[in-house]
Amino acid sequence: MSRLDVTETFHGLTWPGHLHTQDSLNYATNFKFKDSDTLIVTYPKSGTTWIQEVVTLIYNRGDPTVSQTVPNWARAPWLEQYYCPEVLSSGREPRILTTHMPYSALAQALEGSKAKVIYVGRNPRDVAVSSYHFCHFANFMPTPGSFQEYLNDFLQGKVHFGSWFDHVKGWTDAKEDIKNLFFITYEEMKEDLQGTIKRVSTFLQCPLVEEEITRTEEQCSFSKMKNNPMVNYTLVPVEILNHSSGKFMRKGETCGDRLNHRYLNVKL
Ligand code: A3P
Repeated sequence: MSRLDVTETFHGLTWPGHLHTQDSLNYATNFKFKDSDTLIVTYPKSGTTWIQEVVTLIYNRGDPTVSQTVPNWARAPWLEQYYCPEVLSSGREPRILTTHMPYSALAQALEGSKAKVIYVGRNPRDVAVSSYHFCHFANFMPTPGSFQEYLNDFLQGKVHFGSWFDHVKGWTDAKEDIKNLFFITYEEMKEDLQGTIKRVSTFLQCPLVEEEITRTEEQCSFSKMKNNPMVNYTLVPVEILNHSSGKFMRKGETCGDRLNHRYLNVKL
């Protein structure tokens, strides 16, 4: 298996070589979706893990067994990451899939599909701050210089996964083409998690009763997820994630932490 090197591109973008190969990226673009699939789409650091947890809990009607025993990448694998085919070979249904790919890369695979697509967006200021910290935390990401330098690269899309702006625009424009597309923001989830769970469960055609909603909400709180090894990435070896330099479940705030970064305190 030949991993991508930092200069190699796919769809004009660079991808962390730790998890992606040309074959795995091609596998994603040629993926055969089933109508029963749920595809979670995000630009990185926008609440991917959070919505994976929400969707897992909804499909399990608030029962936390799966979310407390199966790592998120093994129950909602990233389509474009090399281990996806192996995870899907388990036959678990309904399939929950995740992707950071731009719409242009998946448009053909999704054409005519009735798979349910959930896009989570997050304020780019918070995405930039969260990504900056993640680059220090993840050994497979290029080490950034100052925050201002990182922000310049982020705004120009000169980072892994490309431009936040293009990603959001690509997927929002896709609403004309995709039959079942649901948009939500990290900020909405933060403001009203219970309302989010109800809306997502309706979209997934898996409405929950009150008690199931309450249990789902409990499991998806920041404090609960921070302490759940199946989603807080503490299972990942230290050679890959430098646990002494940070935490995956970092702050979980909206437009608050960015104020600590004065260069972001500007109108975008
Ligand atoms: P911060 O770095 O701002 O804290 P992703 O899963 O897309 O990589 O996103 C990670 C971000 O989502 C991190 O943001 C993380 O703390 C936040 N997050 C994860 N679960 C959350 C939850 N239950 N509530 C609020 N934020 C959450």
